[in-house]
Amino acid sequence: MAVPRRVTIEKLREFLLSQSSVQAPDVQRILSYVTGRSEAWLRAYGETEVSPKAESQAREFAQRRASGEPLPYILGTAGFHGHSFLVDNRVLVPRPETEHLVDEALEFINDKERPRVLDVGTGSGAIACSILAETGTNVHANAIDVSADALLVAMANAQRLGVEPRLTFFIGDVSTPALRPFFDVIVANLPYVPTKDIAPSPDPVSFEPRIALDGGADGLDQYRRFLKHAPRLLALDGIVLMEAAPPIIADLEALARAAFPAAEVTIGIDYGKRARYVKVRTRE
Ligand SMILES: C[S@@+](CC[C@H](N)C(=O)[O-])C[C@H]1O[C@@H](n2cnc3c(N)ncnc32)[C@H](O)[C@@H]1O
Repeated sequence: MAVPRRVTIEKLREFLLSQSSVQAPDVQRILSYVTGRSEAWLRAYGETEVSPKAESQAREFAQRRASGEPLPYILGTAGFHGHSFLVDNRVLVPRPETEHLVDEALEFINDKERPRVLDVGTGSGAIACSILAETGTNVHANAIDVSADALLVAMANAQRLGVEPRLTFFIGDVSTPALRPFFDVIVANLPYVPTKDIAPSPDPVSFEPRIALDGGADGLDQYRRFLKHAPRLLALDGIVLMEAAPPIIADLEALARAAFPAAEVTIGIDYGKRARYVKVRTRE
């Protein structure tokens, strides 16, 4: 009679690290997911046996990660601004640098009575849902995306965070007629990767929707379209926040100055001290 082999957390960790190019922190997160245990627990109880089901799921996840698939797609969630968002290959994985836009929006609406927020290119809904989750019932938002698939994910996230009563979704882009002025805060994280710079497979980015990445020849196609319409949507006393890549921020700033000639236009810095977003501030 064959003796069933005993696979411990520690042995499985070593095996996954030796068999694939997956980095140790990702292996740790995979083990945490498949065992339902915290990473601290796993470190303390490495001699605990792993069930065959958890073992085979961990092997499958490690293989997918080794092929380049982003870990948030594999595990189904991504952290953003202290919240957990459902993500899959219908939406961009929300990035830490985008949290600055949420911080700026929260600071601006802090003392407003009934602020209205517009999130353009909402994707997973990370920006709009975070703003609503961290403010009171006086704050309302509209979120818009050209991708119906992305909107389904954003709606699920709005429910998950309990903010759906204050969030209205639209399919389309910023020229959508149903969008009613005026918004106190407009946040746009539109696709801004120049077409030639979109990383090919197996880069993790290649798993993300092309429509979430491709900003045209210079990365600013969608921002040009957005800035044609944004001035008629913004309140007299309001802000527009737009994220882009550091090399094209100066060009985006110039577009913003042309669209809002009377406004104060500044560049915001990200966690890595890189120029990351443009802020337009209008005053009555
Ligand atoms: C870079 S992703 C940002 C997603 C999310 N806001 C975030 O910060 O994680 C860009 C999003 O814009 C959407 N998009 C692309 N072109 C658009 C357009 N013309 N109007 C509205 N949304 C657009 C894409 O479907 C995608 O969900």
